[in-house]
Amino acid sequence: MEIIIQSDSQAGDAVAARMIAGLIRRKPDAVLGLATGSTPLGLYRELVRMHREEGLDFSRVTTFNLDEYIGLAPDHPQSYRRFMFENLFNHINSPVERIHIPDGMTDDVPAFCEAYEQAIRDAGGIDLQVLGIGTDGHVGFNEPSSSLASRTRIKTLTRQTLSDNARFFENPDEQPHHVITMGIGTIMESRQVVMLAFGANKAEAVSRTVEGPVCAMMPASVLQFHSKAHLILDDASAAGLAKADYYRWVYANKPDWQRH
Ligand code: GLP
Repeated sequence: MEIIIQSDSQAGDAVAARMIAGLIRRKPDAVLGLATGSTPLGLYRELVRMHREEGLDFSRVTTFNLDEYIGLAPDHPQSYRRFMFENLFNHINSPVERIHIPDGMTDDVPAFCEAYEQAIRDAGGIDLQVLGIGTDGHVGFNEPSSSLASRTRIKTLTRQTLSDNARFFENPDEQPHHVITMGIGTIMESRQVVMLAFGANKAEAVSRTVEGPVCAMMPASVLQFHSKAHLILDDASAAGLAKADYYRWVYANKPDWQRH
């Protein structure tokens, strides 16, 4: 794993945006995996800025989102579809037919999940997957104990995730307990992973992901098996890392030809 520690989330967003923009410039028909949550908001703002000010072109880019709540209509304020349009797609030139977000209203979840996996394969696989991390180490909505080989499927949220995300729901009865999420096996097949984690409340999950054992109880730790995973942190989320000084030194001394 490449551990990139920046002083704050804004600097981290800029590193992630440069990686994505670099990929799109090298490969204009790149396939991106995208995440929701509060963490990638700054990254999306930076991509919108690059589109407006630097002409970053999304017209041939295909996207697949990680997850969606079951039972929320696409225009529900808390649906991940609405989140993605409000925070990214409404502000860039992504053709709607290239945007894929799990359908939380499907009446056949298993068939939908199989079709989603097939659509990823048909697009040639994901070139770069953006990830956040839950305080319990979940990626997408793959909660602790998820199979590390899992595919897109239904999951039930843990109490911890429900309480972490409760702040977004005015009416607690509207908060779904079930979701559709890409599996960990699906995520691991993407050619490159960029995980963002900012703030002190992510420090424990980050240190267990990077320096703990790989195990299903800390789903993000599986990234230790990914050959091209970058973790972008701020000082607060990196605070629990035993080897933080080493990661800082490595990144500061990265040869120019290896820079993003
Ligand atoms: C949500 C999403 C994840 C996200 C995580 C962290 O439940 N399904 O993709 O990484 O929780 O959210 P936040 O970035 O708001 O801390």
